[in-house]
Amino acid sequence: MKEIVLHAPGGLDRLELIEMPDPGAPGPGEIRVRVHASSLNYHDYGVVSGRMPTENGRIPMSDGAGVVEAVGEGVTEFHAGDQVVSCFFPGWLEGPPTVSDFSTTPGDGVDGYAREVVVRPATWFTRAPKGFSHAEAATLTTAGLTAWRALVVNGGLKAGDVVLVLGTGGVSIFALQLAKAMGATVIATSSSDEKLERVRALGADHTINYRQHEDWGVRARDWTGGRGVDHVIEVGGPGTLGQSIAAVRVGGHIALIGVLTGRAGEVPTGALMARQARLEGLIVGNRRQQIDFVRAIEATGLRPVIDRSFGLPEIADAFRYEESGAHFGKIGLTF
Ligand SMILES: NC(=O)c1ccc[n+]([C@@H]2O[C@H](COP(=O)([O-])OP(=O)(O)OC[C@H]3O[C@@H](n4cnc5c(N)ncnc54)[C@H](OP(=O)(O)O)[C@@H]3O)[C@@H](O)[C@H]2O)c1
Repeated sequence: MKEIVLHAPGGLDRLELIEMPDPGAPGPGEIRVRVHASSLNYHDYGVVSGRMPTENGRIPMSDGAGVVEAVGEGVTEFHAGDQVVSCFFPGWLEGPPTVSDFSTTPGDGVDGYAREVVVRPATWFTRAPKGFSHAEAATLTTAGLTAWRALVVNGGLKAGDVVLVLGTGGVSIFALQLAKAMGATVIATSSSDEKLERVRALGADHTINYRQHEDWGVRARDWTGGRGVDHVIEVGGPGTLGQSIAAVRVGGHIALIGVLTGRAGEVPTGALMARQARLEGLIVGNRRQQIDFVRAIEATGLRPVIDRSFGLPEIADAFRYEESGAHFGKIGLTF
């Protein structure tokens, strides 16, 4: 069985493809999954680049999708042949958040899915949407579920709401697609006019180039006739939060998701208070939410946008491509 390991202290040149013994048959409560795809997230990049240090020899990648090859004693939810997708927090099955770090996250605190076969507790996976390729299913674990939780679970999205998505990475494109599928109006930003054309093709109602217009949040607000947007998919962090607050309506919702501009900085707390907006940090979601999300995908017909796919041996090139920022939506890893 082939797998990728990351040698300390990390770095894209510290990823190695190695041969390992087959993990064997599943024990009680476990399933054996042949993994066929993963997808890249900014978090995975943090791990493999060494910016988020992990154990020497860690198998990277939080997202994994494939086929159940065998089930252990007592497993009734899955059968051999089922297509499944991994969970970001294997121990958080349902209910309010119980985790505040990545110590249990595959590809970070524990071994992930850059490998051909895995034996894990059945609850570490959910069913994948019917008709999805493994590459498509793999995008749900991190980026997809984050967008779902931000907009639907925490945000209470409803038809007619106005959603502002920042940039055209994995989470934001999922949020745009979900918002459109559920009858919302979407404002999208990007550093690239070409990418803005692509978001319009996906249904974005209004677009703003955030490089050309530093006051993109004010412009988003103006576009709503001064009312402001109901939801912001805030993937930037300290460098973008000020404009997100400028964009949000009184009593609106900002899902604080990302750290693309850094991990700490100044926040215009006075403006946030005056807006009476809800600023809510979140990390991905739980297994129950993933099951609901899969159901919603099947009902809406949403298909993830995969920009490019790489083979397992090309994993470092895949991350170099993510590093370049040239991608639109998701980058896949198939094997
Ligand atoms: N909290 C969570 O649960 C969670 C889950 C997933 C991801 N995240 C975080 O969310 C962020 C995005 O993750 P991702 O996987 O979607 O990343 P990604 O696919 O690598 O997306 C990167 C894209 O973000 C856009 N971007 C970069 N800087 C920006 C800025 N200053 N303003 C607006 N857009 C900017 C760029 O879009 P353009 O090229 O169009 O400009 C870039 O292509 C990361 O910080 C990641 O760690 C958090």
